[in-house]
Amino acid sequence: MGSLSVNHLVGIKELSNEDIELIFQTADNFKSVINRPIKKVPSLRDITIANLFFENSTRTRLSFELAEKRLSADVINFSAASSSVKKGETLIDTVNNILAMKVDLVVMRHPNPGAAKFLSENVDSRIVNAGDGAHEHPTQALLDSYSIREKLGTVKGKKVVIVGDIVHSRVALSNIFCLQKQGAEVMVCGPATLIPKYIKELGVKVEHDLRKALEWCDVVNMLRIQLERMDVNYFPSLREYTMLYGLDKPLLDSLNKKIVVMHPGPINRGVEITSAVADSEQAIILDQVENGVAIRMAVIYLLAQKIKREE
Ligand code: CP
Repeated sequence: MGSLSVNHLVGIKELSNEDIELIFQTADNFKSVINRPIKKVPSLRDITIANLFFENSTRTRLSFELAEKRLSADVINFSAASSSVKKGETLIDTVNNILAMKVDLVVMRHPNPGAAKFLSENVDSRIVNAGDGAHEHPTQALLDSYSIREKLGTVKGKKVVIVGDIVHSRVALSNIFCLQKQGAEVMVCGPATLIPKYIKELGVKVEHDLRKALEWCDVVNMLRIQLERMDVNYFPSLREYTMLYGLDKPLLDSLNKKIVVMHPGPINRGVEITSAVADSEQAIILDQVENGVAIRMAVIYLLAQKIKREE
């Protein structure tokens, strides 16, 4: 078994191709574990993990917690809404108090870009970024690439288009880094107001016509419009957005090939994707969720091995 080149998972940018391959191979083993009648291994009985969620989450929070429990780690959960952060405590003080309870590893979601990196530089613990504002969501990108690899055999050479609210999306940025590292071609598609001006500098194609984007790609990753991060209107109305950038069954069926449809969730049915598409045989949305547990088991297991080697 190899070792990760990083001590924390704060972003995809810091991972090598070997790290990504090691995570995928480890996830392959854990995927077979979670499909057995007894879905648990005793690997991390001596490890304690704190899940700190300063921002809402359904999939990521439950997926991390389940991954940690499947590895037999002790788990504590913290949500900002019910914590002393509301009483003015700093992030570093909050985390150092949690670490004083003999916690080995911290998983954190935070609304501020860079929060995970800041923590990794200022506290004595391994940090896993579960999403930092509109910056990175590394485990989502890993599970997305892993799901493409599972469905199409490889990521290398595949054409992937990410559609929608790119400017507010940590999923988009982490996916761009992760897909490109593995040799995929990446395009983003959406209204100009939702595509960052710097995006072409990342070597990403830009297309504003959804049909043309779909005709180009092997895989489409549909993103939610993040109204909660918008302080101004980025398009005239959601109805107009859906008319131009929503994926429905007639459009999907009119393509002369069967593309793979992905979505990181949460889905807004009838806005960026219709139920007929989300529930179609071309969609791998629930496979992504299943793979998320295996990928998070792999990431936590590999970081925990580094802690154990240091002891
Ligand atoms: N995909 C994702 O991050 O979903 P949650 O916000 O529910 O965790």
